[in-house]
Amino acid sequence: MGDDNRLTILVVDDESDIRDVTALAIADAGYRVETAADGRQGLDRCCALRPQIVVTDVRMPGLDGITLLERVKAFDPLIEVIVMTAFGEMETAIRALQRDASDFITKPVNHDALLMALQRAAQRHITRRQLAEYTAQLEHTVEDQARILHQDKMMSLGRLAASVVHEINNPLSGILNYCRLMLKILGRGEAAAEDLRRFERYLKLVESETDRCSRIVSGLLAFSRKTAPSFGPVDVAALLEKSLSLSRHKLDLTGIELVQHVPGGLPPVSGDFNQLQQCIINLIFNAIDAMPDGGRLTIGAEALSDPARVRITVADTGEGISAEDRPRIFEPFFTTKQDGHGTGLGLSTVYGIVQHHNGSVDVASSSGQGATFCLTLPAADPGDR
Ligand SMILES: Nc1ncnc2c1ncn2[C@@H]1O[C@H](COP(=O)(O)OP(=O)(O)OP(=O)(O)O)[C@@H](O)[C@H]1O
Ligand SMILES: [Mg+2]
Repeated sequence: MGDDNRLTILVVDDESDIRDVTALAIADAGYRVETAADGRQGLDRCCALRPQIVVTDVRMPGLDGITLLERVKAFDPLIEVIVMTAFGEMETAIRALQRDASDFITKPVNHDALLMALQRAAQRHITRRQLAEYTAQLEHTVEDQARILHQDKMMSLGRLAASVVHEINNPLSGILNYCRLMLKILGRGEAAAEDLRRFERYLKLVESETDRCSRIVSGLLAFSRKTAPSFGPVDVAALLEKSLSLSRHKLDLTGIELVQHVPGGLPPVSGDFNQLQQCIINLIFNAIDAMPDGGRLTIGAEALSDPARVRITVADTGEGISAEDRPRIFEPFFTTKQDGHGTGLGLSTVYGIVQHHNGSVDVASSSGQGATFCLTLPAADPGDR
């Protein structure tokens, strides 16, 4: 469009009289007009001038109007093309419309009909350009969002890598030091009885530190879903029973009251028994940790419909989670437990596994009010049961 905001119309016709009269009528109607004497020149001018609308004759020597239409549309589909056909050339008009001409007018040109066609083409051009701009803007927004998501992911991966290094480095350097110490003592000659007692202590530390490293690594594996799960129908009551029996020892030690609301006849969920058990145990252990002075642990399950799912709840009456910590509890290595008591991988493991099961995990809690974790898992397909 020119500086004056008028639309530019290119008139292409090999007959100079018709070309001039048509151009004059169009200029009179307030458009900017350019002309070309044949199809080839029309195409050149089109590329140079980028008019909004081209009005072209069909029958021209060399490059005819239909070919010009095709080339113009290939150059810029937003340019509207109106073809002028001789009276009775209906087939040509149809061919032009099939090639996305915006309109056709018959020769000899009636100026009112021409101006009407121009108005419609101008409207169509403006609408299509707005649509194209809007689409481009949308694509841009989607690209932006994808980039932000990617950046987010890279940032959390970076944080994850940094924390893995940090978490594993300490136990590893401990292990290394104890090993060196023992080698040094052994290097001095036969180990005395007192040395052996020290070795036992060192080896216990090496054992517990190695165990810590391996827990970190296996937790990370579950979080990054690199372990291959074996999916099948999982009986929820059996899953909860097994998980509780594995936590029984810890429960008994802390004098926590256990309440169960697990109705019979729950539909099985679709999943990997071991991974789901790991989730439930992590939630139970967290609940136990949150109630060092005793309390009540409530395990519940209920069937939901549309779509068929089962919701498992693990609720405690412990210290609860502060609003500040809430957004971070599913992050790997986020822990509020002191002195190496927590690796901070329990909930991130739960999150990773539940995602992989197409389920969801939610928490309701506030400081001092206990916490309730809900796992929602899709019911197994009746065909698979
Ligand atoms: N039931 C709960 N009540 C109160 N706080 C909780 C509860 N469950 C989790 N949290 C909070 O979320 C944090 C992260 O839990 P997560 O299970 O990921 O790690 P962790 O228990 O600290 O360590 P890990 O499970 O690896 O031994 C906990 O340190 C605790 O602050
Ligand atoms: Mg935990």
